[in-house]
Amino acid sequence: MQGLTPDTITDAVLDQMATTPDPRMREVMASAVRHLHAFAREVNLTPAEWIKGIAFMTAVGKMCTPERQEFILLSDTLGLSALVNGLHDSTAMEEGTHTSLLGPFYREASPTLAAGSQIAKTVKPGSEIVLYGRVTDVNGKPVADATVSIWQTGADGLYDIQESAASIDYRGVFTTDADGIYLVRTVKPLGYFIPMDGPVGDMVRAQKRHGMRPAHIHFLVGAPGYRELVTALYLRDDPHLADDVVFGSSGDLAVDVKPNDPGCPIKGLPTIRFDMRLSRETAADKAGGRVGADPSAILKQPA
Ligand code: BEZ
Ligand code: FE
Repeated sequence: MQGLTPDTITDAVLDQMATTPDPRMREVMASAVRHLHAFAREVNLTPAEWIKGIAFMTAVGKMCTPERQEFILLSDTLGLSALVNGLHDSTAMEEGTHTSLLGPFYREASPTLAAGSQIAKTVKPGSEIVLYGRVTDVNGKPVADATVSIWQTGADGLYDIQESAASIDYRGVFTTDADGIYLVRTVKPLGYFIPMDGPVGDMVRAQKRHGMRPAHIHFLVGAPGYRELVTALYLRDDPHLADDVVFGSSGDLAVDVKPNDPGCPIKGLPTIRFDMRLSRETAADKAGGRVGADPSAILKQPA
Protein backbone atom coordinates (compact mmCIF):
# COMPACT_ATOMS: atom_id res chain seq x y z
CA MET A 1 0.00 0.00 0.00
CA GLN A 2 3.05 2.25 0.02
CA GLY A 3 3.49 5.10 -2.38
CA LEU A 4 -0.16 5.63 -3.41
CA THR A 5 -0.75 9.06 -4.94
CA PRO A 6 -3.88 10.94 -6.05
CA ASP A 7 -3.10 9.54 -9.51
CA THR A 8 -2.78 5.87 -8.49
CA ILE A 9 -5.31 5.51 -5.63
CA THR A 10 -8.30 4.93 -7.93
CA ASP A 11 -6.76 1.91 -9.66
CA ALA A 12 -5.65 0.50 -6.30
CA VAL A 13 -9.26 0.59 -5.03
CA LEU A 14 -10.63 -0.88 -8.26
CA ASP A 15 -8.03 -3.71 -8.15
CA GLN A 16 -9.02 -4.56 -4.58
CA MET A 17 -12.76 -4.55 -5.37
CA ALA A 18 -12.27 -6.71 -8.49
CA THR A 19 -12.87 -9.80 -6.31
CA THR A 20 -16.61 -8.87 -5.97
CA PRO A 21 -18.43 -12.04 -7.16
CA ASP A 22 -21.70 -10.35 -8.24
CA PRO A 23 -20.90 -8.87 -11.70
CA ARG A 24 -23.53 -6.08 -11.53
CA MET A 25 -22.40 -5.04 -8.04
CA ARG A 26 -18.77 -5.07 -9.30
CA GLU A 27 -19.72 -2.83 -12.25
CA VAL A 28 -21.81 -0.37 -10.23
CA MET A 29 -19.32 -0.03 -7.36
CA ALA A 30 -16.31 0.36 -9.70
CA SER A 31 -18.08 3.12 -11.58
CA ALA A 32 -19.17 4.81 -8.33
CA VAL A 33 -15.55 4.84 -7.10
CA ARG A 34 -14.21 6.18 -10.42
CA HIS A 35 -16.75 9.02 -10.45
CA LEU A 36 -16.39 9.85 -6.73
CA HIS A 37 -12.63 10.07 -7.08
CA ALA A 38 -12.94 12.16 -10.25
CA PHE A 39 -15.29 14.52 -8.40
CA ALA A 40 -12.83 14.95 -5.50
CA ARG A 41 -9.99 15.61 -7.93
CA GLU A 42 -12.03 18.05 -10.04
CA VAL A 43 -12.97 20.28 -7.10
CA ASN A 44 -9.76 19.60 -5.14
CA LEU A 45 -11.91 18.55 -2.15
CA THR A 46 -10.48 19.70 1.19
CA PRO A 47 -10.67 17.68 4.45
CA ALA A 48 -13.04 20.32 5.94
CA GLU A 49 -15.36 20.09 2.94
CA TRP A 50 -15.25 16.31 3.07
CA ILE A 51 -16.33 16.38 6.76
CA LYS A 52 -19.08 18.87 5.91
CA GLY A 53 -20.34 16.42 3.29
CA ILE A 54 -20.18 13.51 5.76
CA ALA A 55 -22.10 15.58 8.36
CA PHE A 56 -24.73 16.43 5.74
CA MET A 57 -25.24 12.79 4.74
CA THR A 58 -25.43 11.84 8.44
CA ALA A 59 -28.17 14.43 8.98
CA VAL A 60 -30.04 13.12 5.92
CA GLY A 61 -29.92 9.59 7.36
CA LYS A 62 -31.07 10.74 10.82
CA MET A 63 -34.13 12.41 9.25
CA CYS A 64 -35.39 9.12 7.74
CA THR A 65 -38.40 7.43 9.39
CA PRO A 66 -41.20 5.12 8.18
CA GLU A 67 -43.05 8.29 7.07
CA ARG A 68 -40.14 10.35 5.74
CA GLN A 69 -37.38 9.44 3.27
CA GLU A 70 -34.87 12.27 3.22
CA PHE A 71 -32.45 10.33 0.97
CA ILE A 72 -35.13 10.06 -1.73
CA LEU A 73 -35.79 13.77 -1.30
CA LEU A 74 -32.07 14.42 -1.79
CA SER A 75 -32.02 12.21 -4.88
CA ASP A 76 -35.12 14.05 -6.18
CA THR A 77 -33.68 17.54 -5.68
CA LEU A 78 -30.40 16.51 -7.36
CA GLY A 79 -32.30 15.25 -10.41
CA LEU A 80 -31.08 11.68 -9.84
CA SER A 81 -34.59 10.24 -9.40
CA ALA A 82 -35.79 11.86 -12.65
CA LEU A 83 -32.67 10.57 -14.44
CA VAL A 84 -33.24 7.01 -13.16
CA ASN A 85 -36.89 7.26 -14.28
CA GLY A 86 -35.83 8.41 -17.76
CA LEU A 87 -33.37 5.50 -18.01
CA HIS A 88 -36.16 3.16 -16.88
CA ASP A 89 -38.48 4.49 -19.63
CA SER A 90 -35.77 3.89 -22.23
CA THR A 91 -35.76 0.16 -21.39
CA ALA A 92 -39.51 -0.26 -21.96
CA MET A 93 -40.54 -2.66 -24.71
CA GLU A 94 -42.87 0.02 -26.13
CA GLU A 95 -43.12 3.77 -25.60
CA GLY A 96 -46.02 4.35 -23.26
CA THR A 97 -46.82 7.27 -20.97
CA HIS A 98 -43.61 8.51 -19.37
CA THR A 99 -42.69 7.88 -15.76
CA SER A 100 -42.76 10.67 -13.20
CA LEU A 101 -41.66 10.64 -9.55
CA LEU A 102 -43.54 8.38 -7.15
CA GLY A 103 -42.52 10.90 -4.47
CA PRO A 104 -42.41 10.31 -0.71
CA PHE A 105 -46.16 10.33 -0.08
CA TYR A 106 -47.25 7.11 -1.80
CA ARG A 107 -48.86 4.62 0.62
CA GLU A 108 -49.42 0.95 -0.11
CA ALA A 109 -52.43 1.04 2.23
CA SER A 110 -54.98 3.09 0.31
CA PRO A 111 -58.78 2.56 0.14
CA THR A 112 -60.31 0.74 -2.82
CA LEU A 113 -63.15 2.90 -4.17
CA ALA A 114 -66.00 2.55 -6.68
CA ALA A 115 -65.83 4.50 -9.96
CA GLY A 116 -66.90 8.11 -9.49
CA SER A 117 -66.14 8.21 -5.73
CA GLN A 118 -64.86 11.40 -4.13
CA ILE A 119 -61.36 10.85 -2.65
CA ALA A 120 -61.34 13.98 -0.47
CA LYS A 121 -63.07 13.72 2.93
CA THR A 122 -63.80 17.46 2.91
CA VAL A 123 -64.66 19.35 -0.25
CA LYS A 124 -64.69 23.15 -0.01
CA PRO A 125 -67.35 24.82 -2.21
CA GLY A 126 -65.99 25.42 -5.70
CA SER A 127 -62.97 23.13 -5.41
CA GLU A 128 -64.53 19.86 -6.65
CA ILE A 129 -63.38 18.51 -10.01
CA VAL A 130 -63.77 15.31 -12.01
CA LEU A 131 -60.71 13.38 -13.07
CA TYR A 132 -61.07 10.69 -15.70
CA GLY A 133 -59.28 9.07 -18.58
CA ARG A 134 -58.69 5.96 -20.59
CA VAL A 135 -55.95 3.42 -19.90
CA THR A 136 -54.87 1.74 -23.13
CA ASP A 137 -52.01 -0.23 -24.62
CA VAL A 138 -49.64 1.68 -26.91
CA ASN A 139 -51.97 1.03 -29.89
CA GLY A 140 -55.00 2.53 -28.15
CA LYS A 141 -56.66 -0.75 -27.18
CA PRO A 142 -58.46 -0.26 -23.81
CA VAL A 143 -57.00 -2.04 -20.79
CA ALA A 144 -59.95 -3.21 -18.65
CA ASP A 145 -59.60 -4.00 -14.93
CA ALA A 146 -56.38 -2.01 -14.56
CA THR A 147 -55.72 -0.84 -11.01
CA VAL A 148 -55.35 2.95 -10.87
CA SER A 149 -53.99 4.25 -7.57
CA ILE A 150 -54.28 8.03 -7.16
CA TRP A 151 -52.93 10.40 -4.48
CA GLN A 152 -52.59 14.16 -4.18
CA THR A 153 -52.52 17.13 -1.80
CA GLY A 154 -55.58 18.67 -0.27
CA ALA A 155 -56.72 22.28 -0.57
CA ASP A 156 -53.98 23.36 1.92
CA GLY A 157 -51.19 21.93 -0.29
CA LEU A 158 -50.41 19.11 2.18
CA TYR A 159 -50.68 15.33 1.86
CA ASP A 160 -52.73 13.44 4.47
CA ILE A 161 -49.60 11.87 5.96
CA GLN A 162 -48.11 15.32 6.58
CA GLU A 163 -51.13 16.17 8.73
CA SER A 164 -51.00 12.90 10.72
CA ALA A 165 -49.40 9.47 10.21
CA ALA A 166 -52.75 7.67 10.56
CA SER A 167 -54.83 9.92 8.31
CA ILE A 168 -56.04 8.57 4.94
CA ASP A 169 -57.37 11.30 2.65
CA TYR A 170 -57.02 12.47 -0.96
CA ARG A 171 -56.08 8.98 -2.11
CA GLY A 172 -57.81 5.90 -3.48
CA VAL A 173 -57.50 2.87 -5.70
CA PHE A 174 -59.85 2.63 -8.73
CA THR A 175 -60.39 0.01 -11.42
CA THR A 176 -60.86 0.68 -15.13
CA ASP A 177 -64.10 -0.45 -16.79
CA ALA A 178 -64.45 -2.51 -20.00
CA ASP A 179 -63.48 0.59 -22.06
CA GLY A 180 -60.38 1.23 -19.95
CA ILE A 181 -62.00 4.26 -18.27
CA TYR A 182 -61.27 5.32 -14.68
CA LEU A 183 -63.44 7.98 -13.06
CA VAL A 184 -62.75 9.96 -9.90
CA ARG A 185 -64.18 12.96 -8.04
CA THR A 186 -61.52 14.97 -6.27
CA VAL A 187 -60.45 18.55 -5.54
CA LYS A 188 -58.18 20.74 -7.64
CA PRO A 189 -54.58 20.05 -6.54
CA LEU A 190 -52.26 22.88 -5.49
CA GLY A 191 -48.55 23.40 -6.00
CA TYR A 192 -46.58 22.95 -2.77
CA PHE A 193 -43.19 23.09 -1.12
CA ILE A 194 -41.27 19.85 -0.74
CA PRO A 195 -40.54 19.14 2.96
CA MET A 196 -38.12 22.00 3.78
CA ASP A 197 -37.58 21.34 7.51
CA GLY A 198 -34.62 18.98 7.10
CA PRO A 199 -31.09 19.00 5.64
CA VAL A 200 -32.38 18.84 2.06
CA GLY A 201 -34.47 21.97 2.69
CA ASP A 202 -31.32 23.65 4.09
CA MET A 203 -29.49 22.72 0.89
CA VAL A 204 -32.29 24.02 -1.35
CA ARG A 205 -32.38 27.34 0.57
CA ALA A 206 -28.57 27.65 0.47
CA GLN A 207 -28.84 27.32 -3.31
CA LYS A 208 -31.55 30.03 -3.41
CA ARG A 209 -33.99 27.63 -5.12
CA HIS A 210 -37.73 28.12 -4.57
CA GLY A 211 -38.40 24.55 -3.32
CA MET A 212 -41.79 24.20 -5.04
CA ARG A 213 -43.46 21.47 -7.06
CA PRO A 214 -46.12 22.43 -9.62
CA ALA A 215 -49.70 21.25 -8.89
CA HIS A 216 -50.01 17.58 -9.78
CA ILE A 217 -51.84 14.31 -9.14
CA HIS A 218 -49.94 11.02 -8.79
CA PHE A 219 -50.82 7.73 -10.49
CA LEU A 220 -49.64 4.17 -10.08
CA VAL A 221 -51.22 1.92 -12.72
CA GLY A 222 -50.97 -1.85 -12.95
CA ALA A 223 -52.55 -4.51 -15.14
CA PRO A 224 -51.50 -8.11 -15.82
CA GLY A 225 -49.14 -8.35 -18.81
CA TYR A 226 -48.24 -4.62 -18.72
CA ARG A 227 -45.28 -2.77 -17.24
CA GLU A 228 -46.32 -0.97 -14.05
CA LEU A 229 -46.62 2.78 -14.67
CA VAL A 230 -45.71 5.37 -12.04
CA THR A 231 -46.56 8.82 -13.31
CA ALA A 232 -48.33 12.09 -12.54
CA LEU A 233 -50.35 14.71 -14.36
CA TYR A 234 -49.34 18.37 -14.01
CA LEU A 235 -51.55 21.44 -14.33
CA ARG A 236 -50.38 23.31 -17.43
CA ASP A 237 -51.06 26.77 -16.00
CA ASP A 238 -48.88 26.25 -12.90
CA PRO A 239 -46.05 28.84 -12.79
CA HIS A 240 -43.56 26.12 -11.77
CA LEU A 241 -44.29 23.65 -14.56
CA ALA A 242 -40.90 24.44 -16.13
CA ASP A 243 -38.81 24.63 -12.94
CA ASP A 244 -40.08 21.87 -10.64
CA VAL A 245 -37.60 21.57 -7.74
CA VAL A 246 -37.52 17.78 -8.24
CA PHE A 247 -37.52 17.79 -12.08
CA GLY A 248 -40.61 15.57 -12.33
CA SER A 249 -42.90 17.77 -14.44
CA SER A 250 -42.80 17.72 -18.21
CA GLY A 251 -44.94 19.09 -21.02
CA ASP A 252 -46.15 15.68 -22.18
CA LEU A 253 -47.79 15.12 -18.77
CA ALA A 254 -49.42 18.58 -18.62
CA VAL A 255 -53.22 18.86 -18.64
CA ASP A 256 -55.85 21.60 -18.56
CA VAL A 257 -58.80 21.86 -16.21
CA LYS A 258 -61.76 22.27 -18.57
CA PRO A 259 -64.88 24.10 -17.33
CA ASN A 260 -67.00 21.49 -19.07
CA ASP A 261 -66.11 18.41 -21.07
CA PRO A 262 -68.94 16.83 -23.07
CA GLY A 263 -67.05 13.49 -23.08
CA CYS A 264 -66.89 13.27 -19.29
CA PRO A 265 -69.28 10.72 -17.73
CA ILE A 266 -70.04 13.17 -14.84
CA LYS A 267 -71.50 16.52 -15.98
CA GLY A 268 -71.51 19.93 -14.37
CA LEU A 269 -68.04 20.01 -12.78
CA PRO A 270 -64.65 21.24 -14.01
CA THR A 271 -62.85 18.27 -15.52
CA ILE A 272 -59.36 16.92 -16.08
CA ARG A 273 -58.90 14.19 -18.67
CA PHE A 274 -55.67 12.20 -18.43
CA ASP A 275 -55.23 9.16 -20.67
CA MET A 276 -52.38 6.73 -20.09
CA ARG A 277 -50.70 4.22 -22.43
CA LEU A 278 -49.10 1.10 -20.97
CA SER A 279 -46.18 -0.79 -22.47
CA ARG A 280 -46.35 -4.56 -22.52
CA GLU A 281 -44.28 -6.17 -19.77
CA THR A 282 -41.00 -8.03 -20.32
CA ALA A 283 -39.41 -10.70 -18.10
CA ALA A 284 -36.92 -8.05 -16.94
CA ASP A 285 -39.79 -5.72 -15.94
CA LYS A 286 -41.31 -8.54 -13.87
CA ALA A 287 -38.01 -9.13 -12.06
CA GLY A 288 -37.27 -5.40 -11.60
CA GLY A 289 -38.62 -3.37 -8.70
CA ARG A 290 -41.07 -0.49 -8.49
CA VAL A 291 -40.10 3.04 -9.52
CA GLY A 292 -39.75 4.45 -5.98
CA ALA A 293 -41.16 3.01 -2.76
CA ASP A 294 -43.30 3.59 0.29
CA PRO A 295 -40.78 4.97 2.85
CA SER A 296 -41.84 2.40 5.46
CA ALA A 297 -40.95 -0.42 3.02
CA ILE A 298 -37.43 0.98 2.48
CA LEU A 299 -36.60 0.68 6.19
CA LYS A 300 -37.49 -3.04 5.97
CA GLN A 301 -35.17 -3.73 2.99
CA PRO A 302 -31.98 -5.72 3.64
CA ALA A 303 -28.87 -3.52 3.24
C1 BEZ B 1 -44.29 14.64 -4.48
O1 BEZ B 1 -44.64 14.74 -5.61
O2 BEZ B 1 -45.12 14.34 -3.69
C2 BEZ B 1 -42.86 14.87 -4.12
C3 BEZ B 1 -41.88 14.39 -4.98
C4 BEZ B 1 -40.56 14.58 -4.64
C5 BEZ B 1 -40.22 15.23 -3.48
C6 BEZ B 1 -41.21 15.72 -2.64
C7 BEZ B 1 -42.54 15.54 -2.96
FE1 FE C 1 -46.69 14.91 -5.04
